Amino acid sequence: MDLKNQILTDIENASSLQGLEDVRVAAFGKKGAITELMKDLGSKTPEERREMGAAFNILKQELTDALDTRKQMLEEADLTARLTTETLDVSLPPRPVASGKIHPLSSVMDQIIHIFGGMGFTVAEGPDIEEDFYNFTALNVPAEHPAREMQDTFYLPPGATEQPYVLRTHTSPVQIRTMLKGEPPIRIIAPGRTFRSDYDATHTPMFHQVEGIVVDKHTHMGHLKGCLEEFCRLFFEDPALKLRFRPSYFPFTEPSAEVDIQWKGDKWLEILGCGMVHPNVLRNCNIDPDVYQGFAFGMGIERITMLKYGIEDLRLFFESDLRWLNHYGFSVDARE
Ligand code: PHE
Repeated sequence: MDLKNQILTDIENASSLQGLEDVRVAAFGKKGAITELMKDLGSKTPEERREMGAAFNILKQELTDALDTRKQMLEEADLTARLTTETLDVSLPPRPVASGKIHPLSSVMDQIIHIFGGMGFTVAEGPDIEEDFYNFTALNVPAEHPAREMQDTFYLPPGATEQPYVLRTHTSPVQIRTMLKGEPPIRIIAPGRTFRSDYDATHTPMFHQVEGIVVDKHTHMGHLKGCLEEFCRLFFEDPALKLRFRPSYFPFTEPSAEVDIQWKGDKWLEILGCGMVHPNVLRNCNIDPDVYQGFAFGMGIERITMLKYGIEDLRLFFESDLRWLNHYGFSVDARE
């Protein structure tokens, strides 16, 4: 197979970890050559599918092994190179005032809470390990619903209980927990960790979102737009910042929209998803949709942090590299 030899050669020729990762993505990524081939399988007869499926599995294994071997080699070379160049003089005495830095994410979370706090929102929380019911079912995503595929979910191995657990894929389950616990009017934000099986310069398996939900008797789309516009202008410190609401789809909101902000004059960049809370979601939480309406939104915290502070690679947020932290971190005194 030409494709196989081509990929094996590319693996062999990859001279850096990034180069190798590019080869992996070109083969196995969402639009990768192998992935595309696998997609074709669906159009074949069951007989052909069985035969080709088996061949694919062998091919996949072979390529994965080659990728692993090469990766290990490059990692070792990388480490050796770093150990010889990055030396630290451990005989130096410690500086008299070695003060720590606030991680940019912590600072941005404080900023978010501060801004929404000013609009009357309080902070709610939910667990990272979440019941399938809160993460999906109650949010109008029943079992077998294709929307479950929209997010690359980490499922926990089935345990003693019947209830399947997931690492929450978004902060939206906190909407459900809040509505089930309290009565409208509701006005909360829920910042926290979220998890999806994805890894590249703009995706890490753990990241942060902030959810917001407002439920009241006369809540409408105008409130949603005003609230998000106010937030974005304060957060990005630009009173003239332009927002664009694009129609979109989420099972738990109707209508749904994605919000772009106008960036550096000409570009529109997507920063969040939002919409009016779906009547089914209100009903699932024992709230009468004929009396109450709500709006909700969910925003990636790393994404807006990267935009605000010009940080290019998301993965560096979580590497605890002191040089990075010293550069992007906030000094403790400048916190307020
Ligand atoms: N939970 C959605 C996501 O993670 C975002 C969202 C939240 C959309 C609330 C609408 C309302 O993509």
